[in-house]
Amino acid sequence: MKHVYVLNGPNLNRLGTREPDIYGTLTMDQIADACVALASELGLSCTVLQTNDEAELIGWLHRAQDEGAAVVINPAAFTHYSYALRDACAIVTGPIIEVHLSNPASREEFRHTSVVAGVVTGSITGLGLESYLLGVRAIAARLAG
Ligand code: DQA
Repeated sequence: MKHVYVLNGPNLNRLGTREPDIYGTLTMDQIADACVALASELGLSCTVLQTNDEAELIGWLHRAQDEGAAVVINPAAFTHYSYALRDACAIVTGPIIEVHLSNPASREEFRHTSVVAGVVTGSITGLGLESYLLGVRAIAARLAG
């Protein structure tokens, strides 16, 4: 069975109560459950992880590459400035989809840049939970095709 890691960056452990007008009221656990359920429907195994630590997130990308796994990643604020994270995304040779709950392009100027966008398979933004679910579907389609 093919494996997909759904990786989440800083402050996403606060979903549910964090700026709900922007990010909605679902918790990380609820998003994780929905991703695991959809992945299993699509014949994929799935691990959802969240960290506030850049080095840990980079380590998980290395692990995904070593295991030949696919990746859905919400790099959160690291999206906008972490070249180290960009380089780690570039190491992943399987499908890797960048997702965001909000639409960074419609927010503050500093969010308009994604330093990872150029090295991922594709990006899905602004659709809340649906961004993650479409990310998992995109991975399944790529692995099947
Ligand atoms: C986010 C958007 C980022 O700009 C922000 O720093 C986040 C969450 C999103 O999912 O909408 O933490 O990645």
